[in-house]
This record gives sequence, C-alpha cells and structure tokens, in this order.
Amino acid sequence: MEIVIAPGEAEVGERAADAVVAALAGRPEPVLGVATGSSPLSTYAALAERRLDWSRTSAFALDEYVGLPEEHEQSYHRVVDAEVTRRLGLDPARVHVPDGNAPDLEAECERYERAIRDAGGIDVQLLGIGGNGHIGFNEPASSFASRTRIKTLAPHTRRDNARFFASLEEVPVHCLTQGLGTIMDARRVVLVAIGERKAAAVAAMVEGPVSAHVPASILQHHRHATIVVDEAAAALLEGAEYYRFIQEQKHRVR
Ligand code: F6R
Repeated sequence: MEIVIAPGEAEVGERAADAVVAALAGRPEPVLGVATGSSPLSTYAALAERRLDWSRTSAFALDEYVGLPEEHEQSYHRVVDAEVTRRLGLDPARVHVPDGNAPDLEAECERYERAIRDAGGIDVQLLGIGGNGHIGFNEPASSFASRTRIKTLAPHTRRDNARFFASLEEVPVHCLTQGLGTIMDARRVVLVAIGERKAAAVAAMVEGPVSAHVPASILQHHRHATIVVDEAAAALLEGAEYYRFIQEQKHRVR
C-alpha cells in the first residue's frame, strides 16, 4: 500500500486526483470506478478543475440503495449524475449505476458484473471507507471473494448515512454493491479518508490484520492501492513517520 498523508481535504483531493489521472493516462477507453458519499468530493472537484477530456471514459458506481426511487435526491443515480457525470462532463451513456429497483435484483447484479467485464475491467477504483471499515457497502463479515450482490446495511452505516436523509427510518435497509472480489479486480484502487471519525478504520485497514471484520483490510493484498488521508484520519497510524518519509524520498530514487 502507498500511504499519502495530506494536510487537509483539498490536498487529499489533489493527491487522489493525481493518482486517478496517472492510472487513466494512455488508456484508449478508460474505465473509472466511482464512489459516492462525502469523502471523494474534493477529488471530483480537483479532477473537474483539470479540464480533462472524459469523452471516452466509462464510469461504474460502487453501489446503490435498494428501493429508493431513482429520482430521489439521495439515490446514487442522482448523486453520481450531479457529482461526477455533470461535474466532469462524462457521457451519461457511459456512466453505470446498479439498478436498485430492478424487478430481479440478482439478475441485475450479474448484469452489472458482466457490464464491468465487457468494458474491459476497472482501471482505477475510487473508494471511501466507512467508520466500520466497509468499502462499497461490503459490511463487516463480507466475503473477500464476493461479487456484486444484495447486502443488508449495518446499523452503523445507516446511522452514518442518516445525515443525508430526513430521519434514520428513511435510510434504506438493503443495497446492491460491488463485492470485495470485484473491487480487488480493479487495476488500481485509490481510497480517500477525511476526518477523525475515520482514524480508527484507517489504522485497522492499513496496520491491522487482514480480516473480514475490517473489509477494507483486504486492500493490503491489492497490488496497487493508494490510500490518501488527511492529518485527522491519519492520527492513529503508528507508521505515519515512515509513510511521510517514503513520500519525501519518492522522487529521489536513482
Ligand atoms: C459510497 C460507498 C461507501 C462510502 C463510505 C464513506 O459509494 O460505497 O463505502 O465511501 O460509506 O462515506 P463518506 O465518504 O460519506 O464518509
């Protein structure tokens, strides 16, 4: 894992955008995996500022709530459209979000996996991390081999996401999410974490044992994972001094 500690949210966005741009450079038909939530917003802002040509880029969302109407402002269809598609100027026809209202949800999950494969696989997957260590909506005890499927949201996640809804009761209970196996197939992953409420999960992901109890810890086995955190999210990293030293020395290798 490459650990990048940036001073604040804006710098996290810049560094994560650097990693995304590097991963997509030279790809004739780039494929970007997108996360929703608050963590990647500064990354999308930084990417938007760079005024790149996204016309040939496809995007795949990590997840979607089950049963939330597509036009609901918190459906990930809407969020991805507003925060990613419009902001970056992607072709909406190339942006994919699993359909949480499909009549056959299992068939929809299989279709989504096939669509990712048919696009050539994900070049770079952008991720946030839940306070309980989830990535996508792969909650604790998710299989490391899992593919896109229906999951039940953890009470912890529903409480966290209640800030986007009028009340906790309005937060859907089920979702469709790319599996940990799906995420691990991405050629590169870039995870962003901001704020002290992520510090324990970040430390467990980077320095704890690889355990289904902390789904993000599987990224220790990814060949090209970049973790970009601000000072507050890095606060519990025992190896922080070394991670900073690596970044300082990065361009000095001969
Ligand atoms: C979002 C997603 C989640 C979030 C995570 C952190 O598509 O899959 O894993 O990245 O819950 O959410 P925020 O960034 O809102 O703290």
